[in-house]
Amino acid sequence: MSLALTVLFFGLFHSYVTLASDPDPVNDFCVLNRSSATTSLPCKNSSLVTVEDFVFSGIKFRGKFSETGLASIPSNVNVFPGLNTLGMSMVRADFDVGGVNVPHSHPRATEIAVVLEGKIYSGFVDTQNRIFAKVIEKGEVMVFPRGLVHFQMNVGDTWATILGSFDSQNPGLQKIPSAVFGSNIKEELLEKAFGLTPKEIAKLRKRFAPHRL
Ligand SMILES: *[C@@H]1O[C@H](CO)[C@@H](O)[C@H](O)[C@H]1NC(C)=O
Ligand SMILES: *[C@@H]1O[C@H](CO)[C@@H](O)[C@H](O)[C@H]1NC(C)=O
Repeated sequence: MSLALTVLFFGLFHSYVTLASDPDPVNDFCVLNRSSATTSLPCKNSSLVTVEDFVFSGIKFRGKFSETGLASIPSNVNVFPGLNTLGMSMVRADFDVGGVNVPHSHPRATEIAVVLEGKIYSGFVDTQNRIFAKVIEKGEVMVFPRGLVHFQMNVGDTWATILGSFDSQNPGLQKIPSAVFGSNIKEELLEKAFGLTPKEIAKLRKRFAPHRL
């Protein structure tokens, strides 16, 4: 490759990397004004901003376990307006014994998660369907590359807790089972895609119906 081409290639690659995360902030902060009707003035009047805008207490305590034994509390810009424009957020997830975080992805963020308590079978699958999974313990971290499907299960004999960090203020969450079976995709399509009978599809649709998410 000629020098010019190499420079062009790395230039393009660099701009791709830059565009892959939230935009850089243009102010010290921009606490989201949730009552602002317009998107042109989304920041709270900075004279009215206080330290409380930069503190979020919602993940201090464990949430309520779901049917799969997961209690997950996001700490993203939708609940913590001080994160607006800062390009990061967190999630606290607690697992009952045997509890599962179903296969899911975050379309807008890479996640790095630290185990605070317990033993978690933790992993992701790449676009070649290659699996990268193992049991990680208290004090260990695992990274889940942006957009890839990942999952966790508490394999210890006590409750487990993890804290996940994202390089987006709003990583998004797409749970695979409910995206497929809880979204009203045409039944015939699901039958053909998964080789299931109408009865089997009905059972899965019932299990992942939107009100049960
Ligand atoms: C939020 O936006 C509303 C509507 O534009 C405005 O009336 C209000 O003063 C703003 N609040 C703050 C704290 O900036
Ligand atoms: C911001 O708040 C201060 C203090 O209440 C007020 O004097 C100022 O006019 C406000 N600025 C805007 C743009 O609303």
